[in-house]
Formats: sequence, structure tokens, C-alpha cells
Amino acid sequence: MAPFLVLAVIAVLAGGLHALIFKPSRLQTEDNEEPFYVASLDSIFERHLRWRTNLPRVTPFYAVKCNNDASVLRMMSALDTGFDCASKVEIQQMLSLGVTPDKIIYAHTTKPLSHIKYAGTHGVDMMTFDSEEELLKISLSHAKAKLVLRIAVDDSASKVRLSSKFGARLESVGKLLGCAGELGLEVIGVSFHVGSGCTESLPFQQAITDARRVFDMGNLLGFQMRLLDIGGGFSAIESFQQKFEEFSEVINRTLDELFPPDSGVQVIAEPGRYYVESAFTLAVNVIAKRVVESREQRYRSVIWGPTCCSYDKVTNSCWIPELHVGDWLLIDNMGAYSVSSSSDFNGFERAHIYPVVTAETWHTLNLSDIYDIRQ
Ligand SMILES: Cc1ncc(COP(=O)(O)O)c(C=O)c1O
Repeated sequence: MAPFLVLAVIAVLAGGLHALIFKPSRLQTEDNEEPFYVASLDSIFERHLRWRTNLPRVTPFYAVKCNNDASVLRMMSALDTGFDCASKVEIQQMLSLGVTPDKIIYAHTTKPLSHIKYAGTHGVDMMTFDSEEELLKISLSHAKAKLVLRIAVDDSASKVRLSSKFGARLESVGKLLGCAGELGLEVIGVSFHVGSGCTESLPFQQAITDARRVFDMGNLLGFQMRLLDIGGGFSAIESFQQKFEEFSEVINRTLDELFPPDSGVQVIAEPGRYYVESAFTLAVNVIAKRVVESREQRYRSVIWGPTCCSYDKVTNSCWIPELHVGDWLLIDNMGAYSVSSSSDFNGFERAHIYPVVTAETWHTLNLSDIYDIRQ
């Protein structure tokens, strides 16, 4: 890593794309043109401390899908968070790191039967549902599950909307709870997700209010409702820091009003983006260039990925100085949904990940117990 880190010659902020351009002076790019990430474990630690300060009543269950690199998962287990898993493989991944099943929620409302069975035989009991069909599958494959009813909420203020695909409408909640009761299943709580990259606090307030109504219905039907899962949607990139504090204030206030600490309700969340987005910086090498127009100092540019696919585009338009083949671009805030959704399409390798950590964090968290540095 070290040779890469001393190459900064010019730095620009390309509109919307926070990118540093590195002009290689000592680097033999012929042998070093593969993209790579630098993953800051300190950044993850710092986010965690901030979470605990701002949302002291809410236990984070890290959403594994957001970035399942082993360095991240080990760090999260060192921080003693819970985990939101979406499949058998994610559950296996966490159990293999020594995470106990009670710290896992299987937070996918549409699960293959075999994955539900796997969860059941490995002691993972908490899981979400939003339909009668899912209840039937669960009653056949893991009748002792502790069920969390996911409700659809307003996700219109989010980058990635989820409620068109997941979550029961409030009108159908009574019927679903009735069905769970008839099947002899145990419902313990309610979950929601305001959508990933949420920009407003109001949807959290409204969703917690809706969850309260569902709690009341569940309690009336004889369930012991005791878990509220407020999902993900939080960001922690620099421009979002104030928003996180604003969200936290609204969430804390609404929780204290509707789910006060003496209600005995455990509150959890499923943050993904919040923890990892800004922890990862991607370094990519300019391997080709095509000039379309060249009249200004800064050029309106398109940044393409290396494959044959025309969808493989990092950005459609950004203003940056002229780049040359062999230059390096550093792109920050690349930790969320990039590693986990990358592919080796066209035979281009996935970017290697270099985790970095300060000695202070290493010792504070006893990371030598968790990371095998010979690997
Ligand atoms: C069920 C569930 N939980 C948690 C998350 C993580 O969301 P975020 O990265 O916005 O925190 C997602 C993201 O899609 C999700 O679908």
C-alpha cells in the first residue's frame, strides 16, 4: 500500500463525485493498474461511538448485505453489534465468526424454505414476515420462530425505496396477526425500513407511530409485543452529519413518547450504509481515454467502468481536469453496496480490499483476538 499513498499531486472535487486524482510519478502503472479499496476500520469505530452517543436506546444490528467483506464483519463483531442477515449464506458467515444466533435477525420477508430451516436448526429464531404465505412456510419449517412483522412505510424521501416490494400495509396487519395466531406462531414485534439513504426525519416519526398501532393490535390479540426494529436508512457521509443528529433527536423523542424505557420494549435497528459508506475509498486507474470535446481547463467528463457493458458507468457527468492513461482516481464514500454487489463480469477482477487501522483502535478493541493478520 505505502507506494500508492505518496502519489498525490493534484486534488479536485469533481461535481458530485468526490475524487482525488493521483499522478503517478514513481509508480510503474503497467504492473499496478488493478483497482483497490482502502477500508478504514477507525472510521467504522468512530461511527459506532457516534451511534451510541446519539441513539443510546437503539441496538444496531449491522446489515451484512451492505458490505460483507470479512474485515468489516470482524470489526462489527468486535464492536459487539447484532447482525441483520438476508440469507442462509449471510447467517453462515456470521455464525462462522463466532456470533451467537441470538444476535442475528433474519431480516428478509421472502425467504426460501430451506433457508428458514437452516436458520431454525442453527438457533436463529428472530425473522421478519409480511405475508400469509411466509407465515405458512415458517409454520412448516421453524414453528418456534420469533416473528417480527414488517410494515410498509413512507419511503419517498429515500435514495433506494423499498416499500413497494416489502412490508405489509396497515390495513392488512389485523388479518396477518390473526393468521399467525391461528397457526400457533409467536409474533414478538414490528419492523420497518424508511428506504436506504433517507433524507428526512419525518418518515421515522410516522413509521414509529404506525408501529405503535401495530403493537397495540398485537397485544390485544394476545401476543407479547416486545421488539421494535427501526431498520436502516441512515447515512454518515460528511455532508450528512447534521442530518444524523436531527434524525436521532426525532427518533429518541418519538420513542420516549410511544415506547418509553419502562415499556420493556427492546429497540433495534439495521444500519448498513451508516457504518461503511465513508469507510471505503476506491482507487481506480485510468486505463483508457476518449476525447469528445476539449476547449476548457476542466472538462465535462464521463467516468466508465472497464467492462464491455454500457451500464458500467461511475458517473454520467462531472467536471475534472484532463486525465491521462495511467493516472489514478480516488473515489470516497464507496463502502455501501459496492463490494457486495460487484462482479467479475468480463473477467475483470473485483477490487482488492486493504483494511487499515491505527494502533490505538487496534489495542482499544483487542483486534488481535479477532483478526488473524497472517491471512
Ligand atoms: C431489510 C433491510 N435492512 C437493512 C438494510 C440496510 O439499509 P441501509 O444501508 O440504508 O442502512 C436494508 C437495505 O436494503 C434492508 O433491505
